[in-house]
Amino acid sequence: MTAVAIANIFADPVDGTRYRLDDPAVRAALVAEARRQLAHDGCAILPSFVTPKAVARMAGEVMDLLPHAHRRDLLLRAYPGEPDESVPAGDPRRRATPFAMNSVATDQFDPDGPVMRLYIWDGLTRLVADMLDEPLLYRVADPLMSCNATILGDGDQHGWHFDSNDFVISLLLQAAEAGGRFEFAPAIRGPGDENLVGVAAAMDGTSPLLRQPPMAPGALILFRGRNSLHRVTPVLGARKRIIALFSYDRRPDMHFAERSRINVFGRSQPIPRQPARPGGAAMPSSA
Ligand SMILES: [Fe+2]
Repeated sequence: MTAVAIANIFADPVDGTRYRLDDPAVRAALVAEARRQLAHDGCAILPSFVTPKAVARMAGEVMDLLPHAHRRDLLLRAYPGEPDESVPAGDPRRRATPFAMNSVATDQFDPDGPVMRLYIWDGLTRLVADMLDEPLLYRVADPLMSCNATILGDGDQHGWHFDSNDFVISLLLQAAEAGGRFEFAPAIRGPGDENLVGVAAAMDGTSPLLRQPPMAPGALILFRGRNSLHRVTPVLGARKRIIALFSYDRRPDMHFAERSRINVFGRSQPIPRQPARPGGAAMPSSA
């Protein structure tokens, strides 16, 4: 990326007065604070990371794609595979919660649009790695899930689940009028310890681990979702909740499982791009 392009990114989506990432001391303090929050709270929040203007542009881009988004309205469990009928009915492995949402895939975004421009910025990838105390992270290579967005309307919700990757960044682009809160139980399970009693308590709303961190549009949220049970509570009101999700991995070629792509987007392969029409942008062929 050229110096001009970097300067444009600093001048454009990221609030360069609040986040002076080109100042090593300021950046180091930011990284230290994010690590402290991750250790203490289970997530790190960078409020107003993206300027209101850029947030509005990104929200507009996602809303323009809503007619082409994949709609899910079903009950899903937090665990993969078929439910084990031999375990008691209240066991979290048998519980299913509503997934009612619209999802926009990576290949539906304009590669030069505001959302993708932020995601493919190497400076953000390096910042995320530093905040997560990882020596090197890559943007995941998945053609559908690496950068995606979810849109939740009135009554929609994103049920309880664990992520299948370690690192995800959320960028809230538009909040609901009410509800639509991100709720999670940090590190409620770990390698070799599924803590099913604790997970059941979280699903019941009685776990002391449960948190609903405050977040406003423009906030960047770092979160380790593989072992932290999480959901988005039901949205109330006409204003849609819009969030962009950026995924990272320690490997440069990480792809999600085909079944994950089908679950989220109803397809496993990217849609071939149509050549741009004179005077108009190329659109996915599902348009
Ligand atoms: Fe998730």
